[in-house]
Amino acid sequence: MSSAALATRLEIVARAIEGELEALLALDSSVPPRLVRAMRYAVLGAGKRLRPFLVHAAGEIAGAEPAACHRVGAAIELLHCYSLVHDDLPAMDDAEFRRGKPSCHRAFDEATAILAGDALVALAFEAVARQDWPCTAELRAGLLADFARAAGAQGMCGGQVLDLESSEGELAEAELVRLQQLKTGALISFALEAGCRLGRMPEPQRRAIACYADCLGLAFQIRDDLLDTQGTPAETGKDPGRDLLLGRTTFVSLLGARGAEQRLLQLREQALTVLEARDLKSAVLAELFDFVISRRS
Ligand code: IPE
Ligand code: IPE
Ligand code: MG
Ligand code: MG
Ligand code: MG
Repeated sequence: MSSAALATRLEIVARAIEGELEALLALDSSVPPRLVRAMRYAVLGAGKRLRPFLVHAAGEIAGAEPAACHRVGAAIELLHCYSLVHDDLPAMDDAEFRRGKPSCHRAFDEATAILAGDALVALAFEAVARQDWPCTAELRAGLLADFARAAGAQGMCGGQVLDLESSEGELAEAELVRLQQLKTGALISFALEAGCRLGRMPEPQRRAIACYADCLGLAFQIRDDLLDTQGTPAETGKDPGRDLLLGRTTFVSLLGARGAEQRLLQLREQALTVLEARDLKSAVLAELFDFVISRRS
C-alpha cells in the first residue's frame, strides 16, 4: 500500500469516527450546556484519530463488523481526548495549545476542563457498555475490563505519573521504555487488540499483532518526543519544547535526536519481522508504521 492510499483510508475512517463521536456527544438538553460545549470542543473537528484507525485496521484483518470497530474506536478516542485535556492542565504540562487551538482549560476554565475530562471518561465506557451496537455480552465485558486497565493505574494514568516524576531525575532507558509503554502504548495496544477481538482473530495472530503494537506504541511516543523538539506549532498544533522546559526524560533527552531516529528504524524492523513471522503481511499495518515514524503532526 502506498502512503497516498493509507492517507485516503485514514481520512475515510476519520470521517466515520467523526460521525460516531458527534452522535455520542449529542447529549440531552438537560446536560449543563457549558459542560457539553467543553466536551465537544475537546473532541470534535481535529486529531489524527489514529487509535480508532488501529481498531479498524486490526478489525479488518480479523473480519470484524465495521459498526463495532467504529463504536469501540470512538470510545477509545473519547478517552484519549480526556487524557489530552488533563495532560494540558497547569498541574500537568501547562500547555496552551492543543490541536491548533487554545487548550480546553484556556478556552473554558480549569474546573470545566477537569469535569469535561471526567465526563469524557464516563462517556467512553458508557459507549462500549451500551447495547446499541453489535457485540455479545461476554465480549463486551472483556473489552470493558481491558479498556479500563489500559486507561487506569496499570496503563495511561500510571504512565502519566511516571512521566511527571521523570522531571525529578533522569530515568534509565529501561525505565523510560516502561513509562512510554504505559503512558501511550497501553491505549494503542488496546486499540489493536480490540479490533482483533471484535473479529475473533485466532490467538497466534493476536499475539503477533500485540508485539507489533508494542513497537508501534513506543515508536509513536518517540516520534511525539522528536516533534516536541523539532515540530512547529503550525504542524503539531501544540506548544513546542514543553518536554525540555519541564525537564522530562524522553528518548530525545536520553539518546539525542539521531539516536531517537535510529531507535524508530529498529522498532520498524522489529514490527515488520513479527508480522512476517506470523504470515500477517498486512499492507496497512506496514504502511501505518511508516506513517507513525515520519509524521509531522
Ligand atoms: C498525542 O496523541 C498524545 C500522545 C499520546 C503522544 P496524538 O498525536 O494521537 O494526538 P491527536 O489525537 O492526533 O491530537
Ligand atoms: C501525553 O504525552 C500522553 C497522554 C497520555 C495524554 P505528552 O504530554 O507528550 O503528549 P503531548 O505532547 O502533550 O500531546
Ligand atoms: Mg504530558
Ligand atoms: Mg503534554
Ligand atoms: Mg509530547
